[in-house]
Amino acid sequence: MSTNKTSAKIVLLPGDGIGPEVAAEAELLIADMAGKHGFNLDMRTKLIGGAAIDATGNPLPDEALAACREADAVVLGAVGGPKWSDPDAEVRPEQGLLKIRKELGLYANLRPVRLHPKLAGASPLKPEYLEGVDMMVVRELTGGSYFGDKQEGDDFASDTCTYSRQEIERVVVMAGNIARARSGKLAMIDKANVMATSRLWRKVTGEVMTKQFPDVSCEYILVDAAAMYLISNPARFDVIVTENMFGDILTDEASMLAGSMGMLPSASLGDGGFGLYEPIHGSAPDIAGQGLANPFGMLASVAMMFDYSLGMQAAAHSIENAISACISADECTPDLGGSLTTSEAGAAVRARINDD
Ligand code: IPM
Ligand code: MG
Repeated sequence: MSTNKTSAKIVLLPGDGIGPEVAAEAELLIADMAGKHGFNLDMRTKLIGGAAIDATGNPLPDEALAACREADAVVLGAVGGPKWSDPDAEVRPEQGLLKIRKELGLYANLRPVRLHPKLAGASPLKPEYLEGVDMMVVRELTGGSYFGDKQEGDDFASDTCTYSRQEIERVVVMAGNIARARSGKLAMIDKANVMATSRLWRKVTGEVMTKQFPDVSCEYILVDAAAMYLISNPARFDVIVTENMFGDILTDEASMLAGSMGMLPSASLGDGGFGLYEPIHGSAPDIAGQGLANPFGMLASVAMMFDYSLGMQAAAHSIENAISACISADECTPDLGGSLTTSEAGAAVRARINDD
């Protein structure tokens, strides 16, 4: 997307729970890649989430947001945890994440789901259902009920779901381009039999596809049926585009196709080359601090950063290949059937890249 850079400004937002553990591996990997590929690296660590609330009272301090605006890319661990989840709390860690997505205009969240053959046994699905699974979910990230007006009282609450034509168009265009570069097959997932926003999504998607992507086929699937197909016939999907909340739910479901939630990376993009890269897993407070977290989703997110924000596709591929080779060699954390700690698994990926 952008051109190859001779220097990169990266902000690291470790966050909470296992976030700092996996972000530490991202930091080491990025530093190694800068040495190997000879670019100047300006990497700074800033606060987000519960850690930021504890230190400043604000889940995304202005100073952290300002640093992100100056950067080429942001790498984020995870936010949230029981310490900050009191329903009556005034501020929540997740507000930091939602604010950064919105403020930086990151309207498209790309979540690739691919299965390493070795991991078929780690998925709760029977291996025969997983054959050929390789999809890209494009989740709209800055609209819908996440950001609509909210009312919250003791006896009544509401979340408003709104979408404008422009919000739908830009993410569908991004998905159309991705589908064109892959199999030429797009699936738009909605709830058009019930929701007005979904009917607008369907209308606008149809118009965009006819006008701009006559070479890409587009099918429309209701979200309840899509949730079923993801389990019963996941290989039927190639590129999926969907609204914010449906994308959130369906990608957690789809992560099980890849064997472990810890495997899935994501890129949040807007109109320029800037992006925010985070694994789709959460802060997993139950395993935090024990070296059990799988760093591969985080490191695969770093690969996406090299691809989309730094224009270094070869570097991206070398990271992906190293992760894949580690899995093949059982150099992985217990969730994938290995016996390495988080930092050992991160070191194994770096060792394979450095040996190249
Ligand atoms: C995700 C997460 C977030 C979301 C939460 C932490 C606000 O689940 O990135 O998928 O719902 O978008
Ligand atoms: Mg989620």
